[in-house]
Amino acid sequence: MEKTQSTDFFDVMNNRHSVKNYDQSVKISHLEMTEMLMEAAKAPSSVNLQPWRFVVVDEHKERLESLVRFNQNQLNTSSAMILILGDMNHPDYAEEIFADAVEKNLMSQEVKDYYMNALPGVFSKMTKQQIRENTLIDGGLVAMQLMLVAKAHGYDTNPIGGFERKEVMQALGVDTERYVPIMLLAIGKAAKPAHPSVRLPIEKLVSWNHADGVVGMPAKKVEARK
Ligand SMILES: Cc1cc2nc3c(=O)[nH]c(=O)nc-3n(C[C@H](O)[C@H](O)[C@H](O)COP(=O)(O)O)c2cc1C
Repeated sequence: MEKTQSTDFFDVMNNRHSVKNYDQSVKISHLEMTEMLMEAAKAPSSVNLQPWRFVVVDEHKERLESLVRFNQNQLNTSSAMILILGDMNHPDYAEEIFADAVEKNLMSQEVKDYYMNALPGVFSKMTKQQIRENTLIDGGLVAMQLMLVAKAHGYDTNPIGGFERKEVMQALGVDTERYVPIMLLAIGKAAKPAHPSVRLPIEKLVSWNHADGVVGMPAKKVEARK
């Protein structure tokens, strides 16, 4: 099966669609999967703490059969299903991340010391909900980047929110207290093209300098503050 790889960003972005049916004969090597995950993990994250974690399921996917609701085709035909998780304990990795940056001359010792002094106070004041929200934002960014990276490698994806979160995590042996589920991602080579999708007109999404005219925002014009 020929892979149509692309290094043109607009080609990748415009041709990424949520694919539901994959060519079952296509396997993705662990080497290439690792490469794609490393590329996706170049996504930005709050304080560069990289809270994302991945469980790649490319064997016995049928374990998840009763847990993915109406997403059976993607489960049965994809090369792999990737469970993207957020680690609620991600602040614990600050020392390791910043020490690496100092070692590589990408951060000064002073900046590292500043962060290491400040972060425990910052995180201790945050509620679990706030840490979770940060984790979900960063998780969304890595997921998007993974979909684009996969397309650039010649694969297709489908982000999946329709699954039994706790049960999928338990089936894969994931600690449901420590990790929050972000999404499942089906990955493989399309056997059937995706359904084309539409987008709201941009005028309904964007306002300039004040919230009006945007979907769900007041239509009334309010004078901008001088
Ligand atoms: C967070 C999230 C959850 C989604 N969950 C599902 C899902 O459970 N099943 C599915 O078939 N598609 C799912 N989708 C895919 C969307 O339906 C799809 O992205 C949207 O219709 C736009 O189509 P496109 O991705 O082809 O551009 C999900 C997308 C996102 C971002």
